[in-house]
Amino acid sequence: MILFHLKKELQMHLSLLLKDAISIALVPTMGALHEGHLSLVKKAIDENRQVVVSIFVNPTQFDKEDDLDKYPSTLEKDLILLSGISENLIVFAPLVSEIYPDIVNAKAYNFNGLENVMEGRYRKNHFNGVATVVQELFNIVMPNKAYFGEKDFQQLAIIKSLVKSANLSVEIIGCPIVRETNGLAMSSRNTRLSKEHRDKAGFIYSTLKTAKLTFGTKSASYTIDWVKEVFLKHPLFNLEYFEIRDEVTFEPIEMKDKNKKYRAFIAFYIQEVRLIDNMALN
Ligand code: PAF
Repeated sequence: MILFHLKKELQMHLSLLLKDAISIALVPTMGALHEGHLSLVKKAIDENRQVVVSIFVNPTQFDKEDDLDKYPSTLEKDLILLSGISENLIVFAPLVSEIYPDIVNAKAYNFNGLENVMEGRYRKNHFNGVATVVQELFNIVMPNKAYFGEKDFQQLAIIKSLVKSANLSVEIIGCPIVRETNGLAMSSRNTRLSKEHRDKAGFIYSTLKTAKLTFGTKSASYTIDWVKEVFLKHPLFNLEYFEIRDEVTFEPIEMKDKNKKYRAFIAFYIQEVRLIDNMALN
């Protein structure tokens, strides 16, 4: 495994691989790696000759300073986990000044409104920050393919839209959510939960599964009301949003159409820890 902190050195190394037309994959992460990330890395290894994993906690995608400060940073542990998968990985762990040499600011993007709903609505400027760092990582690594988890399903759609609108020559691969044994979607933020809360968070997955069953026979608004009520009664979890949308256009659902694919999206708090999840409904 080779670790780079400087983009110039990484690029010099990659240019040698490019000469030999070796296919390069990028797995962008913010570190604090878990099985979800590792599943992306394994898939990337299966499908490409060279895999680059970036580890960079991107300040411009956090809307709250406190959330950024508390974001877990575990580089040494991450490197051990990655070397357990393959010795052939390249890890890029830049300092903030490498990615933002002048000013630590996000560029402004337009994703046809997708940036303003759900995560975009509740986390101001979040997707501008994500798109800025992902575009910069694409510029640096010039990957043939890049791998992202479906837990951040809206982010995945934003990145696909970025690639299309900026005409980038990278293929975006979405990978399924990996869950803990109780169904809680894996997230770096899960380490901030107490053991008790982490165990109890299986409630989210079972609520999503029941919502899926409910949506099979009832309307979207009935299903949404049911989920809201279940959360209102719950002593531990606070719902931020639960929405059902077309998983391609992200339009909210007016009337069910059996030719369309719908997905439920949820954001919630367990004390001060904010988590998200989603599930295909049909
Ligand atoms: O999903 C993440 O971990 C981040 O949003 C990403 C894509 C690495 C950009 O910072």
